[in-house]
Amino acid sequence: MNKKTVRDIDLKGKKVFVRCDFNVPMDENQNITDNTRIVAALPTIKYLLEQNCKIILASHLGRPKGEFKPEYSLKPVAKELSKLLNKEVIMANDVIGEDAMKKASELKEGEILLLENVRFHREETDNDPEFAKKLASMAEVFVNDAFGTAHRAHASTAGIADYLPAVAGFLIEKELKFLGEAINNPERPLVAILGGAKVSDKIGVIDNLLEKVDTLMIGGGMTYTFFKAQGYEVGKSICELDKLDLAKELMEKAKNKGVKLMLPVDTKVGKEYSADTESKTVKSTEIPADWEGLDIGEETIKLYSEELQKAKTVIWNGPLGVFEFPQFAIGTNAIAKVLADLDATTIIGGGDSAAAVKKAGLEDKMTHISTGGGASLEFIEGKKLPGIECLMDK
Ligand code: 3PG
Repeated sequence: MNKKTVRDIDLKGKKVFVRCDFNVPMDENQNITDNTRIVAALPTIKYLLEQNCKIILASHLGRPKGEFKPEYSLKPVAKELSKLLNKEVIMANDVIGEDAMKKASELKEGEILLLENVRFHREETDNDPEFAKKLASMAEVFVNDAFGTAHRAHASTAGIADYLPAVAGFLIEKELKFLGEAINNPERPLVAILGGAKVSDKIGVIDNLLEKVDTLMIGGGMTYTFFKAQGYEVGKSICELDKLDLAKELMEKAKNKGVKLMLPVDTKVGKEYSADTESKTVKSTEIPADWEGLDIGEETIKLYSEELQKAKTVIWNGPLGVFEFPQFAIGTNAIAKVLADLDATTIIGGGDSAAAVKKAGLEDKMTHISTGGGASLEFIEGKKLPGIECLMDK
């Protein structure tokens, strides 16, 4: 990585503003249901504690759209972090208000302050320079460790770097190492597995992957746009009729680049989109008119598994079926299991595929599970991430 990290500057005793991605899922009682992103921020926080820093942490949670809403408060995060560090985490009642400013100015070496949700101010997502300047005024150094939000050019992820020396934390360093190696310098064969509902969400990703991979396996809802584009009946399956030409172009590009593009040969269809609907497996080219495709079939699982045995690097993004419904989670779970047992580097893009791997209890068997959903997709797409671009070069 060509960006400076916390290791590259002297941080001893400094007041440091650390942007984390504490956007964690919570239930209706504000109990955190998955603390992965908080755990992922610990190495940087612990390092800053060792350097006797005065640590100011900031994050967003959800999309409160510039208004204070108690259900989007970061208080549960402060509690969880305090438990994980076995140390007090001081909670500010606001972001740049009197309480935050006072607590930040009184912070002592080795103390940690967590600001309230930065998205309680519209200026955050507007990347307002005055707001960024105010955040910066609290500290001497900016550390960005919010990989999950690195694709957003917001005040606390990018704008603030105009006013402070800016470096990466260990999480961003780690994410870029694993994702970057897999995309740009992989041990081959490199296989990408792409799922998810829509082709339109992943056009850039497919396009860029076709420049890099040896094999591209498709699953999930986007499958049916590819079949429709070839003139097949897809029944009631999700299908983007305005993307048929694009699907054809992508298939053509795969051919020209010598990339093996694999589409499911069989499909588990349901009578309707529900957990306990009647289901059966059919050839992907013969989906009955009043049924919809909801998972890959057994034959596809077998073919994909055989191909994966040859891989040395695998990147997976997006579930291969409606994995929230157990009878249509079989393909996603089977492929997760195959990856878990592979003698290869296995990189899981964040979001739903990470959730599926965790649900299957296989997270420890993967080389790397990204904490970024949108951010890892944009990275795989080859886009520059503003939260990383703004950091100081080495
Ligand atoms: C995420 O969960 O993907 C990140 O925290 C970014 O959230 P956002 O899509 O609301 O910007």
